[in-house]
Amino acid sequence: MEKVSCENQVNYRFPNGFWWGSAASGPQTEGAADLDGRKPSIWDYWYSIEPNCFHHGVGPENTSNFYHQFKEDIQLMKETGHNSFRTSIQWSRLIPNGVGEVNQQAVDFYNRVIDELIATDIEPFMNLYDFDMPMCMQEKGGWESREVVDAYVNYAATCFQLFGDRVKYWFTFNEPIVPVEASYLYDLHYPHIVDFKRGAAVAHNTILAHAKAVEAFKKLHLGDAKIGIILNLTPSYPRSQDPEDVKAAHIADQFFNRSFLDPVTKGEYPKDLIEILKDKEVLPTVEPGDLEVIRNNPIDLLGVNYYQPRRVKAKEEPVPAGTPFMPEHLFDPYIMPGRKINPHRGWEICEEVIYDIMIDIRDHYGNLPFFISENGMGVEGEAKFRNPEGFIEDDYRIEFIQEHLKWVHKGLQEGANCLGYHLWTFMDNWSWTNAYKNRYGLVEVDRENNFKRTIKKSGRWYKQVAEHNGF
Ligand code: BG6
Repeated sequence: MEKVSCENQVNYRFPNGFWWGSAASGPQTEGAADLDGRKPSIWDYWYSIEPNCFHHGVGPENTSNFYHQFKEDIQLMKETGHNSFRTSIQWSRLIPNGVGEVNQQAVDFYNRVIDELIATDIEPFMNLYDFDMPMCMQEKGGWESREVVDAYVNYAATCFQLFGDRVKYWFTFNEPIVPVEASYLYDLHYPHIVDFKRGAAVAHNTILAHAKAVEAFKKLHLGDAKIGIILNLTPSYPRSQDPEDVKAAHIADQFFNRSFLDPVTKGEYPKDLIEILKDKEVLPTVEPGDLEVIRNNPIDLLGVNYYQPRRVKAKEEPVPAGTPFMPEHLFDPYIMPGRKINPHRGWEICEEVIYDIMIDIRDHYGNLPFFISENGMGVEGEAKFRNPEGFIEDDYRIEFIQEHLKWVHKGLQEGANCLGYHLWTFMDNWSWTNAYKNRYGLVEVDRENNFKRTIKKSGRWYKQVAEHNGF
């Protein structure tokens, strides 16, 4: 009955059964990097040779200790209103040599996590790959190698067989464009290759691996289980309506959104993108049968990670002849005056873009079922917001979520098929080269104090939102 009295206060009500929860990933939370048979991923290896590439030299060996504290964490998920939670299986833990023997200790661990989530009434969403190539697979060429594609498909099928009796929502990849950008174009992540054509091969092989994993999943007929992919969408907005700016934004959109979105939903690459790559002579090798597998295996469900838009203007200076091709040869980034920014991350905050994405999926992707699979705000130095009661008062995060949810609500009212909202992230975690610089969690993790967890104000607020199915 208590709920009824609160219902009067709800201005933004969400559909029944709406997913409230958060996303995380195995490599960013589990820790226990060397324990129980796990072998290194590219992150462990990279950290071992270049620790200075990581904020304050903090590496992936312990991350947030979820491996040991998952029971407590799942309880805290309940206390912060979760009805669903996404994490990822680490390939390097489950099949430490990439192919071959399955690590029973890893099976036991993931079984315990899944069972604990279900026992706590939290729907487990499982992702299979979160930037974390096993090092032994990278040595074989990583996503440039067809052998690695086959190994991944075998790993995915193993996961479906082991856990598919209980996990109903599967995702092949999280943000698969990030390894293309960060590892093969912009020199941000290991293996530090800067070569568009090799990046395009990585993108194609990833999409192929995804489609083959979807095919393997469908063959298993796992009842009402669904499979999808998590894409980070960064809608492109032109500086002005000048045709050259509009064209520049269209091109950026082809590279950074449609490149993955179209093949996984419509089963084909965008024609404009193919034309550009052909013209620049950087098309990846496509083998007979590849396009057929991609065409025949569209996803059931899309996860949309939304953080920021991309603003673009027409190219102002010509690119010197002979410069190896990069997407930015065809447009310039545009810094919009007066934009709202998260200074800790340098990312623009523009809430209504989430609505534009929803309408785009409604109108151009057959109103495919999707959910907001990540959205969140990273802040450095949150400890200064600790109150006398000992928890962090992160009102900025509450406002951030609320303002995005208002636009999600509007998209829903206008018919978008959005099934839920997952925040990035449940607890403060290790964020790749940024390590623990920016904190995103509903729950604080004190690394200096045995990874002590404390729910922030946002976590308390999020519980109310989930309980009232709105705010
Ligand atoms: C998301 C990634 O795009 O950004 C997460 O999926 C990542 O893995 C998050 O942690 C935040 O990144 P950063 O660099 O701000 O810590």
